[in-house]
Amino acid sequence: MATNALVLNQVNAHYGDSHVLHDVSMTLRSGTLLALLGRNGAGKTTTMLTISGLLPASSGEINLYDKPIASYKPENIARAGVRLCPQGRRIFPSLSVEENLKVAAQVRPIKNPWDIDRVYDLFPQLKVRIKQRAGTLSGGEQQMLAIGRALMGNPDVLLLDEPSEGLAPLIVAEVGKGIQKIKAEGLSIILVEQNFKLAMGLADEVVILNTGRVAYQGSAEEVNANPELATKHLGVF
Ligand SMILES: Nc1ncnc2c1ncn2[C@@H]1O[C@H](COP(=O)(O)OP(=O)(O)OP(=O)(O)O)[C@@H](O)[C@H]1O
Ligand SMILES: [Mg+2]
Repeated sequence: MATNALVLNQVNAHYGDSHVLHDVSMTLRSGTLLALLGRNGAGKTTTMLTISGLLPASSGEINLYDKPIASYKPENIARAGVRLCPQGRRIFPSLSVEENLKVAAQVRPIKNPWDIDRVYDLFPQLKVRIKQRAGTLSGGEQQMLAIGRALMGNPDVLLLDEPSEGLAPLIVAEVGKGIQKIKAEGLSIILVEQNFKLAMGLADEVVILNTGRVAYQGSAEEVNANPELATKHLGVF
């Protein structure tokens, strides 16, 4: 398998006349986790939507294992092995936990395919809620379900958009442990986060966006060794 799971090269994206992503380039190496950071409105979600094909790139290249996917329709990008777990954890509130997982299932030739039982092993809290309507779950459980739904698509590349948003610290830690386990399975992950500590605990590489442009890219070690980088680009310390 190629060393690079996903490569963005000079990607631009617009909402109508509004130019939001400016020549965004980044490389997600196979089996690693790239933390995509940046302040509110920096363009993180737009990058995820563009990779997923939900907002087609206006120019630039997106390659999945060397295959150009920038012109693919969203369903074909999903079939090719990219799954998005969207910001705001969109699940089907009136369907049960089990139904939410079933409708997300997609067969793909990966080494260790996901099924409902494996999702329950990852997040045991979901198992006791199998028959419960997803809309009645806690925020943390809904997030676990949203991640489970993305995994049911058996992706090679998983896009997680702010999984910790709005969750209590203990639940954030649980979700973080789940992401660590998924990473250990060999998935390639882009993790969008405002929670700097969570992201840095999981990341191999870091890309920081500022007003739709890449303001910094480097290894997690470099960011951890130079806290002023985070202060400068993110305002965290
Ligand atoms: N549907 C849309 N139409 C027009 N402009 C949009 C739309 N969605 C987002 N934008 C704008 O695009 C820019 C990037 O937004 P985006 O949602 O990608 O940021 P973000 O980094 O994900 O922010 P947050 O941390 O708040 O989720 C912002 O200026 C935002 O106002
Ligand atoms: Mg966002």
